[in-house]
Amino acid sequence: MSVAEQSIAGAEARGHGFLASSVGRKIVMAASGIVLFGFVTVHMIGNTQAYMGAKSLNAYAEFLHGMLHGGGIWIFRAVLLTATGLHVWSATTLTLDNLAARPVGYRAQQSVASTWASRTMRWSGVILAVFIVFHLLHLTTGQLHPAFKAPQGHEYFAYDNFVSGFKVPAVAAFYIVAQLCLGLHMWHGVWSFTQTLGLSHPRYEGLRRNFATGLTLLVVGVNISYPVAVITGFIH
Ligand code: HEM
Repeated sequence: MSVAEQSIAGAEARGHGFLASSVGRKIVMAASGIVLFGFVTVHMIGNTQAYMGAKSLNAYAEFLHGMLHGGGIWIFRAVLLTATGLHVWSATTLTLDNLAARPVGYRAQQSVASTWASRTMRWSGVILAVFIVFHLLHLTTGQLHPAFKAPQGHEYFAYDNFVSGFKVPAVAAFYIVAQLCLGLHMWHGVWSFTQTLGLSHPRYEGLRRNFATGLTLLVVGVNISYPVAVITGFIH
C-alpha cells in the first residue's frame, strides 16, 4: 500500500468525529503541545538549582521523587506520556493526510514559508524524540551514562550525574544540538498553537511573535547554559 493509500485507509478508519477532522487533531496537537511546553519551561526552571550547588539539585530531585509519597512523579509521568503520545499521533496522522492530499508534491513551491516551517517541525520533532529517549537513558535510568550514580534510598545524586554526564564533550554537543532543535520546534509550535487557539488577529501578531521568541530564547538559552557551564568548569 502506498503512503497515500495507507493514509486514506487511516482517515476512513478514523470515521467522522472530532478526532477524524483535521481541525480536531490540530486542537489535540495544540493542547498536548501546551502541556509539553509547560513541562519544558518548568523543567528548565527546576534545573537552575544546579547553579546553587549539589545540595540544591539533589534536594530538588528528592522532592520530585517524594511528592505524594512517591505517587506524584507517576501521575506526572502519566500526564507527560499521554501528552507525548497524543502529540506524536496527531502530528503523524496530519502529516500523512497532507501527503495523501498532495501525493506528487510541489517541486516549484519548496521555498514557501509554511512548507519550510512544517518540514522543520517534522525533523526537529524526530530529533527531539531521539533526544528524549537518550536523555532518559542518560540522566534518569543511567544505562547510557558510564559514571551514573543510582539513588540510594531517599538519597539522589542528580548533581554528580549532571556534572559527570556533561563532561563528555560528545554528550554536551548532542545536548546543545538537541536544544537548538527544541528552539526551532518551540518557536514554530508556540506560533502555531496561538493561531489554532484563535489568536491570529492582526492586533495580536506582534504579541504572539514576541511571546514565541521570548519563551524560546529563554528556555533554549538556559538549557544550553547547563552543558556549557560544565564544559567550561563553571559548574564542577
Ligand atoms: C540541558 C537541558 C536539560 C537538563 C540539564 C536536564 C536535566 C535533567 C535531569 C537532571 C533529570 C533527572 C531528574 C531526576 O530524576 O533526578 C531529567 C529528567 C527528565 N528530563 Fe531533562 N534536562 C534537560 C532538558 C530536557 C528536555 C528538553 C526535555 C524534554 C523535551 C527533558 C525531559 C526530561 C524528562 C521527561 C525527564 C524524566 C522525568 C521523570 O523522572 O519522569 N529534559 N532532566
